[in-house]
Amino acid sequence: MSIYREPLYYELAFSFVKPAKQIDLFEKLIKKYSALKAKSFLDMGCGPSPQLLELAKRGYACTGTDLCPDMLAYLVKKAKDKNLTIKTKKTDFTDFISKEKYDFAMMMMGTIGYIDSGKKLLSHLKSVGKCLNPGGLYLIENFRTTRSREHLFSPQTWLVKRKYLTIRVFYKIDIKDRLQGLETETILLEVEDHGKKYLFKQQASIKIFSPLEFLEAIKESKMFDFLGWFNRETLRSLEKPKIGNYTLLRRKL
Ligand SMILES: C[S@@+](CC[C@H](N)C(=O)[O-])C[C@H]1O[C@@H](n2cnc3c(N)ncnc32)[C@H](O)[C@@H]1O
Repeated sequence: MSIYREPLYYELAFSFVKPAKQIDLFEKLIKKYSALKAKSFLDMGCGPSPQLLELAKRGYACTGTDLCPDMLAYLVKKAKDKNLTIKTKKTDFTDFISKEKYDFAMMMMGTIGYIDSGKKLLSHLKSVGKCLNPGGLYLIENFRTTRSREHLFSPQTWLVKRKYLTIRVFYKIDIKDRLQGLETETILLEVEDHGKKYLFKQQASIKIFSPLEFLEAIKESKMFDFLGWFNRETLRSLEKPKIGNYTLLRRKL
């Protein structure tokens, strides 16, 4: 996945994220739903994790995991520059064992979509379940939850400008296999950095687990209680999962 090897460009391309606001919401969810006082946080597929940087700033113990070493090195450097400590580990989130235990786990920005089979989803849930303290929360920022047409993103493009840097982002999703819920995600970054032009293209297979498939996997893992789908802005509990919901699970006590 080539774009993830360009952490600075990736971070700027997706810099519409408001981490302080997100962490305020996470703290509200923890207060309401966690059976323990969350002190340690794990971000899987963390990328440049503005969320961990914000959490570390608030004094929490933070660990980020990713398959891409460039992302992890970038995150460590950013933390160091801000006098913060964030631990990192190169780990595949579909199957991992962690000696450390955490109070809160998260997977942001639709990253869950890269888990492209039921077998991997189950293995992922078991891995997360084993490294979470009982009563701790697992929050998934879930972009794709149903396969109906209105839940598909239409192609999007946006422009990010900094002093010597311009990034034009193209994002699109095409249906690959409707029955299996498989799609192809294409991200294109056209970068102009100090007058030099670069083009980065990434295509990945992603999967939409229907709400029923997802709930079945949670049940089969025997690790979590399902707490609900929540609106990302208001934290209102949703009857049906919408695009960009927070899916909340709690490690069984
Ligand atoms: C959509 S980005 C999200 C990055 C960050 N969490 C955010 O919110 O911006 C997905 C990240 O997951 C990582 N990734 C993809 N597949 C992975 C896997 N199987 N195990 C661990 N990390 C993975 C990528 O390297 C990338 O950094």
